[in-house]
Amino acid sequence: MNKPIVLVADDERGTREGLERALQDRYAVLVAEDGQKALQLLEGRHVDVLITDLKMPGLDGMGLLKRAMALQKPPVCIVMTAYGSIESAVEAMQAGAYHYLTKPNINLDELELVIQRALNTRQIEVENVSLREQLDHKFGMETIVGKSSAMQQVFDIVQQVAPTRATALITGETGTGKELIAHAIHNLSLRKKAPFIAVHAAALPSTLLESELFGHEKGAFTGSVERRIGRFELADGGTLFLDEIGELEPQMQVKLLRVLEERAFERLGGQKTIEVDVRLIAATNKDLRKQVAEGKFRDDLFYRLSVVTIPLPPLRERRDDIPLLVAAFLRQCSEENGKSVTELTPDVINVLMAYDWPGNVRELRNTVEQMVVLARSEKLTLRDVPAVIRGGADLTKIAVVRTGMTVEEAEKELIVQALKELKGNRTKAAEKIGMSRRTLHRKLKRYGLEEL
Ligand SMILES: Nc1ncnc2c1ncn2[C@@H]1O[C@H](COP(=O)(O)OP(=O)(O)OP(=O)(O)O)[C@@H](O)[C@H]1O
Ligand SMILES: [Mg+2]
Repeated sequence: MNKPIVLVADDERGTREGLERALQDRYAVLVAEDGQKALQLLEGRHVDVLITDLKMPGLDGMGLLKRAMALQKPPVCIVMTAYGSIESAVEAMQAGAYHYLTKPNINLDELELVIQRALNTRQIEVENVSLREQLDHKFGMETIVGKSSAMQQVFDIVQQVAPTRATALITGETGTGKELIAHAIHNLSLRKKAPFIAVHAAALPSTLLESELFGHEKGAFTGSVERRIGRFELADGGTLFLDEIGELEPQMQVKLLRVLEERAFERLGGQKTIEVDVRLIAATNKDLRKQVAEGKFRDDLFYRLSVVTIPLPPLRERRDDIPLLVAAFLRQCSEENGKSVTELTPDVINVLMAYDWPGNVRELRNTVEQMVVLARSEKLTLRDVPAVIRGGADLTKIAVVRTGMTVEEAEKELIVQALKELKGNRTKAAEKIGMSRRTLHRKLKRYGLEEL
């Protein structure tokens, strides 16, 4: 991960160089010898932390601080004041400084601690970025398995809306892949490099949710000892995913509507109107239309949110996807658990296809994982299938697909699909499926697909 950027502004060379030396291991340090030069640097690039002396010729520290706070993404500001001039420190804090240090004896440990704490305010952003990078390959459109026509339709809509800024509403039962699809939309958009920020509306009480979304100023309410940047601001330039939107309380619905209409809001307890460029994707497992009819959800908000609606079908309505999903999960779970389970008997596949999966893909994935973890050999048989699933499977439901794919056939199809999509690039195909290049070669040979 990139080092956070710290800018030190001080007209005294000794302080500049001393701080630079002390900080350069952990941070990318920029220096400026007066306020004007510092401002130029701030305007030219994003800086995470500004450490500035208050007394400087020309544009002084207070002036610089105010200009810095007015930037689109203001840095965290720490001011240095001469020992004994506490009034100026107070003034700086009121202007938005995060902390002050007294000169000439700057305590470097304290400084380090303050910077760490300040960056924590932003850490959510950083964490999201790195997490996103880790998951990038996983959440591309590629790894969403689905050959059923229902899912193919979903992929078509996703591809169409991704490049636009249209708000999308993803609906579907729990575990159908709503968050996965939201990620895919983000990753297929021009916003790909900007953050994808998820907020689970049901997880928080209304007041907390409000500050989570919009942020708050220091002192906005009891306990808000520090300013907090909200999720809307963190998602600037990127995508905000609002999960379980059906749980939003009426007053939050109004606030959200306003952001959607004006693309602007204020932090709790704040005066300044903040404008953001955020693409919103909402998800729900409720029937929002019904909630509108019952007066539980605002119709104006519903229409704003559902510019594009993407309904995800429950797994039991697309049983043909099950063998492919099982093959993909078998591979992933084997690898994650250091096991090598490569086969299942056809009756296992039949049972898995006949079960109704109320928890949808998530439940299927968990079941496969459980079977892999407990597996006694490389081959799973009916005995390895959890009793609930075996008992719940109604085989008459799959009379037509009874002779359907075995996991080997599914795996074969997965390989063929990947190679076709990636134009025969074996390295990429192996990566996509999650097997080593060597394993892929072996499988190609075994399935007689070498000419692909
Ligand atoms: N088509 C798919 N291909 C591969 N994996 C999938 C697919 N659909 C869902 N999954 C996996 O199933 C799990 C559940 O998906 P996700 O979290 O996106 O569901 P959800 O609809 O958001 O569920 P909930 O409503 O409970 O939040 C995840 O591990 C996800 O990776
Ligand atoms: Mg979800």
